[in-house]
Amino acid sequence: PPRYPRYTRAEVAQHRSPSERVWVTYGTEVFDVTDFVELHPGGPDRILLAAGGALEPFWALYAVHGQPHVLELLRDYKVGELSPEEAAPPPADTGDPFAGDPPRHPALRVNSWKPFNAEPPPELLTRSFLTPNELFFTRNHLPVPSVEPGSYRLRVEGPGGRSLSLSLAELRQRFPKHEVTATLQCAGNRRSEMSRVRPVKGLAWDIGAISTARWGGARLRDVLLAAGVGDNTGDDTGDDNEWHVCFEGLDADASGTPYGASIPLKRALSAEAEVLLAYEMNGQELPRDHGFPVRVLVPGVVGARSVKWLRSVAVSAAESPSHWQQKDYKGFCPSVDWDSVDFGAAPAIQELPVQSAITEPRPGAAVPAGELTVKGYAWSGGGREVVRVSGDGGWAGGVGELMGWGIGEIGGGKWGNEWGMGEMGNEWGGGLGK
Ligand code: HEM
Ligand code: MTE
Repeated sequence: PPRYPRYTRAEVAQHRSPSERVWVTYGTEVFDVTDFVELHPGGPDRILLAAGGALEPFWALYAVHGQPHVLELLRDYKVGELSPEEAAPPPADTGDPFAGDPPRHPALRVNSWKPFNAEPPPELLTRSFLTPNELFFTRNHLPVPSVEPGSYRLRVEGPGGRSLSLSLAELRQRFPKHEVTATLQCAGNRRSEMSRVRPVKGLAWDIGAISTARWGGARLRDVLLAAGVGDNTGDDTGDDNEWHVCFEGLDADASGTPYGASIPLKRALSAEAEVLLAYEMNGQELPRDHGFPVRVLVPGVVGARSVKWLRSVAVSAAESPSHWQQKDYKGFCPSVDWDSVDFGAAPAIQELPVQSAITEPRPGAAVPAGELTVKGYAWSGGGREVVRVSGDGGWAGGVGELMGWGIGEIGGGKWGNEWGMGEMGNEWGGGLGK
């Protein structure tokens, strides 16, 4: 007979804070680590991120735990084992359109499960300049499509009826691979703070709907040129109206309408803007949540235009007719509300304005007297460089008390290169840190 009681994962999940006890699992074993929380060398907050669930995904991020003495220490806190049936994955619910969504990292703060929308906790966001793929914020409007890479085709429609159909292998082989370090931000980032001023409709994002990755793929410019688009395309219309490049995803709603968005053709053709048809994210193939096998990546522009699970690219005299281009992702002045809004009257958001936030310490946190490390990020939008970061925002009473943080020049990049977030002193270009 087993020496330890058996628990289900749901039972473990009920123990997520010191007041309800802090339980975690490792393998098939269950531990009550409440008494270790305050002793944890990595701090009590970090250990609480894993409370109620498995340690493995967190320890994969913090390799310091891969030492025998850590497991020995854990053994002292064992209180049970997982029930044998917990080893098998739960049966798929076939009636649910989201049943095929991929597994997600438990550290993500979920704003909505179906569709999946989630952000990294602030203290994990600024742990590294590049956001690990499994912590990168996710903004889905629809179920994640399942794409068979061998039969994937990308349709590219140029002007005058010329078109291309590219397999994944062709996209990789026919066009040089270009790499860009770029930050993606959702237009709704920090909406929960706005809602404290006045209620706003939409997902209640905290400060984490922004992440940075090194993206690899074909330049959209190269693919468009191969489809017969010329640098003068759109110039012969005799007026000043811009031409556009419209994208469609493989994710579609119940009526079969796909996610779609567009960017001006000028940006798509600009070598400097570095717009990619990306198939790599931080050196790995794109994860399913981030657009496997191919997504658009438009550096410096609102995330909504970086269409995932890309199915088609089309050059057009008009913007994308998609709901998300026409009736969403537009900015209005404070006097406009949902009764008076006229979506046709405002331009679709492309570049976003400057953004910054402090990730550590969190608002209201008690901090020890003396020297304090403050972390955060800054991003200038549109590919402009961050010029300075000032520390006079009232935190802890002013610049003088914030060690190493103040006004300073930060070297910047153009467009997507070399900006993102992290700690001051490394690759920089956009961000503040210690
Ligand atoms: C460090 C144990 C959960 C983040 C450590 C160390 C131990 C430990 C013994 C020191 C290792 C060494 O330096 O040799 C544990 C146990 C956990 C747990 C028993 C769960 C029951 C977590 C979680 C996270 C985390 C969930 C992150 C989300 C860290 C970090 C350090 C650390 C960042 C390094 C601290 C530093 O050196 O500054 N942990 N840990 N730990 N742990 Fe954990
Ligand atoms: N592309 C498709 N096909 N479907 C989507 O729902 N969401 C968009 C954009 N591309 C979306 C999409 C929005 S609003 C944002 S902010 C980014 O993807 C988020 O990209 P990420 O989930 O990789 O962070």
